[in-house]
Amino acid sequence: MSVIKILYAASEAAPFIATGGLGEVAGSLPKALSEKYSDDIDIRVILPLYQEITDRSGFEFVGKATVPLAWRQQYCGIFKKKTDGVTYYFVDNEYYFKRNECYGHYDDGERFAYFSKAVLNVLPMLDFIPDVIHCNDWQTSLLPVYLKTRYANYTSYGKIKTVITIHNIEYQGIYDLNIAEDVFDLYGREKSIVEYNGSINLLKGALETSDIISTVSESYAKEIFDDSVAHGLASIISRNSSKMRGILNGIDTDFYNPENDKALFENYSVLSIKNKYLNKLNLQSLAGLPQDENIPVIAIISRLVKHKGFDLIVHAVEEVLKEKVQFVVLGKGDRGYELYFKSLQDRYHDKVAVRIDFNSDLARKIYAGADFFLMPSISEPCGIAQMIASRYGTVPIVRETGGLKDSIHDCSLGTGNGFTFSQPKAKALAETIKRGLGVYSRKEDWTKLVEAVMSVDFSWKSSAVKYYDMYQSLLDQGE
Ligand code: GLC
Repeated sequence: MSVIKILYAASEAAPFIATGGLGEVAGSLPKALSEKYSDDIDIRVILPLYQEITDRSGFEFVGKATVPLAWRQQYCGIFKKKTDGVTYYFVDNEYYFKRNECYGHYDDGERFAYFSKAVLNVLPMLDFIPDVIHCNDWQTSLLPVYLKTRYANYTSYGKIKTVITIHNIEYQGIYDLNIAEDVFDLYGREKSIVEYNGSINLLKGALETSDIISTVSESYAKEIFDDSVAHGLASIISRNSSKMRGILNGIDTDFYNPENDKALFENYSVLSIKNKYLNKLNLQSLAGLPQDENIPVIAIISRLVKHKGFDLIVHAVEEVLKEKVQFVVLGKGDRGYELYFKSLQDRYHDKVAVRIDFNSDLARKIYAGADFFLMPSISEPCGIAQMIASRYGTVPIVRETGGLKDSIHDCSLGTGNGFTFSQPKAKALAETIKRGLGVYSRKEDWTKLVEAVMSVDFSWKSSAVKYYDMYQSLLDQGE
């Protein structure tokens, strides 16, 4: 059997740059695939060389090219680095990528159109014509569009298949239709592929032109047939339904490992759970809360935005605060929620500790030190935090949606690895937390639950097999 060649194109990839879940997946899935299928898969990752990528040790210059984008001719340098068995390519163009943040610029559409075109232009220079280009989210959505139109007649490109993975359908890359030619280099029929509801919609273009559409959990793959979750794209999903797949993300269980995580106060495993409680006492002291092993600590680590379920939390939290409990909150986002949590901390300073920040060191200390992890999202394509929390023996309380539904199962029926509820209502959340507190108070039951939670395998092991089968099915399709 021949080796499957895959180019994984993403706008971010850990450990080089990660602003969210996409970066974590792009950093861990290719690595997992190349470990498991070292003889059968050659997977390489390509991403922009942002200014924030400051550690460039071991980067090797591969070559340079000129990339045409409408009337522009733009420089493109390629660097590479091999790490953990995976080759990473970096697209260098200082005009587009030497900026303070990865996203949020007036010309993001142009920046990622350039990136998509650059990837296609440099394949001969990389000496790597892939069998599959695996694209991710709206930033790389133009890649299959260009490939199936402008590049269709390049003989060596004719057999390349494409996958688009949706990490969050809310972000679609919507732009004014009148910049189609001037910025995106799309004319006539090409333009109609990305046209939707009177605008340019880049993700729609990828859904129409990719050979497979995948998303990051089975439940979310079903939910996006409905516009309440699909943010307007349900009809496009429906007419491409035969291409849909849902594969649950994993996490890098070497990177998130309480046995050797250097951020922790004390390392532990399922065989030494008592050491987890040393992390708890240290966390309470760090957070300025009373140190007491018997008070349950509920953690929230999240972007503070509506779809993470913060309206439910806001309306349920004071009811829960009547109980013997502590909350530790880490995150930033919408100003309204930031102010709310600050005021909650002022009013309940011996029960609530809030840090408005993103901080991965502190996040790990919280994952290790807390008893419960709260994630009542309104929608959640996959969610990674609930899996990290589980790995650290912190019991998830989640709403049954998307990947949360697929990864966390209520323990009330004997088996299970957390507490779940279905209705997006504050009452249901408050009741579920209280149910959790009930189990917490029964020490034997609680210890058993923590052991069960820590024992679930959230590595990429089983999902890597599904990705392999997906790639193989594309090759079987032939031309
Ligand atoms: C996005 C989604 C999140 C998912 C992640 C990785 O950030 O919102 O649910 O886990 O992508 O696929």
